[in-house]
Amino acid sequence: MRYPEELIEEVRLKNDIVDVIGSYVKLQRKGASYFGLCPFHSEKSPSFSVSPAKQMYYCFGCGAGGNVISFIMNYENFSFQEAVKYLADRAGVKLPEIEYSKEAKEKEAKREKLLEANREAAKYFYYQLRNKPGEEGMKYLKGRGLTDETIDKFGLGFSCMMSNDLVKYLESRGFSDEIIKDAALATFNEKYGMSDLFWNRVMYPIQDINHRVIGFGGRVMSDAKPKYLNSPESMIFDKSRNLYGLNFARTSRKNHFILCEGYMDVIAMHQAGFNEAVASLGTAFTSGQANILRRYTDSVYLAYDSDGAGVKAALRAIGILRDCGMIGKVINLKPYKDPDEFIKNLGAEAFQERIDNAENSFFFEIRQLEDGYNLKDPDDRTKFIKEIGMRLMNFPDEIERENYMAAVCDKYNIGYESLKKLVAANAMKTGAGMEVRPIERPKSGIHSKDPDENTKKVQRLLLTWLSDEPKIYRLIKKYISPEDFTDELYEKVAVKLFEDLEQGIMNPAKIVDMFEDDEEHAKVAAIFNTELVEVTEKTEREKALHDLVFNIKKNSCEAAASKPNQTMEDMMKDIENKKALEQLKKTPFKLDD
Ligand code: CTP
Ligand code: MN
Repeated sequence: MRYPEELIEEVRLKNDIVDVIGSYVKLQRKGASYFGLCPFHSEKSPSFSVSPAKQMYYCFGCGAGGNVISFIMNYENFSFQEAVKYLADRAGVKLPEIEYSKEAKEKEAKREKLLEANREAAKYFYYQLRNKPGEEGMKYLKGRGLTDETIDKFGLGFSCMMSNDLVKYLESRGFSDEIIKDAALATFNEKYGMSDLFWNRVMYPIQDINHRVIGFGGRVMSDAKPKYLNSPESMIFDKSRNLYGLNFARTSRKNHFILCEGYMDVIAMHQAGFNEAVASLGTAFTSGQANILRRYTDSVYLAYDSDGAGVKAALRAIGILRDCGMIGKVINLKPYKDPDEFIKNLGAEAFQERIDNAENSFFFEIRQLEDGYNLKDPDDRTKFIKEIGMRLMNFPDEIERENYMAAVCDKYNIGYESLKKLVAANAMKTGAGMEVRPIERPKSGIHSKDPDENTKKVQRLLLTWLSDEPKIYRLIKKYISPEDFTDELYEKVAVKLFEDLEQGIMNPAKIVDMFEDDEEHAKVAAIFNTELVEVTEKTEREKALHDLVFNIKKNSCEAAASKPNQTMEDMMKDIENKKALEQLKKTPFKLDD
């Protein structure tokens, strides 16, 4: 079932699009719109625009777009109904009870159950650790230097030796075997029935940003393998979109995060006062995680292990951060292996010094590269410098690139002019973005493959113009009607837009709500966000508008005339159209001042 239209409108009006998107994406005002880095594709310069006047967003890079509801649908992966519900809650709008489809309701109920099972399991492990069965676990954690306060803060626990005590406990609390299995807390086997997934391990509950337990990591207390066992992904546990410690770190009020490799590192860092520390979840750092961090800050300090594997992982993470438009720095932990060991040996003050002296990620990369060459050998040195030249291409911003060139030249004693020439030659070869392009636009429709694209583009231009300057409606309505829009979706949009304009209303964000599917939302957003060439001179503008209207009318007449099975009536209409077109051609437009 759908919410009534007025209610959807109310929810939308109470959620200003700049406020809502601004809490996910850093926005900067530029003229009448706001711009930021698109959260739906990775880019380095902002092509994602949010218009307060239209209450719509549109990405000129990837074409994502819509109103505030579409944004939440896309960002949170919600259905239309779920997004409306979310925004209603945010703005304190009460929704009628009968809201979800049966399927959505069941899915939601299941999620709730899985979360509940995880919460109960965490409570059970928590209790075990603090009682007799967990003595060994507590000794282990204390032995690693954790205080009671830290152990409580992270909700650490213990799973004991028995193979199905958690299952029994959860069953006694009324959980079905199906829920226990789907929460990945136990496995089922024909011979033995249900057995706990975790036993004889210290348990690290993994929480989402709202402190809800979504999974666990369990560590052995010896050198046995595997060292860690992690919950597999489930309906509530997506490893690429959550980070360990983020529930605390997001409110740290520091202007950066520290990204570590391990659970224990995060815990040790928080205990030492570095409450901005987070870690990925037993898997490599992903761009999904980078995008989540980017909601809070664009600066990330890497505190990865100092061994070979750690360096490799750091190099990967640097690339991911850069692709997401973030700035990475690398903390040197030597001579210790990881942040946990470092803090234990040298303490928080020394760690703070390492943060202050963290290495720029580009120099870190170059330094790692250096190891592969003998810089005393001229051939090797040449190769090394050429490789640097290639890597400098990763900076599309000219000022930034020149700063890096200067710094690299200084450090490795390279002539600035020759490096500059090398970089310019690379640019010629690869055609890579060597000029500053703040906004990447999609290819113009002129050479487009869709044969209707040119026709549609002209129609979009008029619709965007109308939404920017509603007063031109009085002029164009003499010639253009919604049927002149050849695409079905365009026509629907035009019908509504023209109806609104008749009543002096301009509300493109509401038009988006006529459609449920987010691809359609993006199409409507494109219609209202086509780039108009800025023309200020009045007669020029009149001519441009006249051309546009003439073009649309002509296309529409041609389309009508080429329809198969023409009736007598069609032919009469065709003749009339031709006359009207002639007339339009001879009538120059006059815009009001
Ligand atoms: N990890 C894992 N499974 C393993 C080993 C590691 O999932 N068998 C993940 C865990 O998330 C772990 C992280 O990789 O926290 C880093 O591994 P490692 O450095 O080996 O562990 P530490 O976190 O340093 O743990 P500890 O200090 O207790 O050895
Ligand atoms: Mn460690």
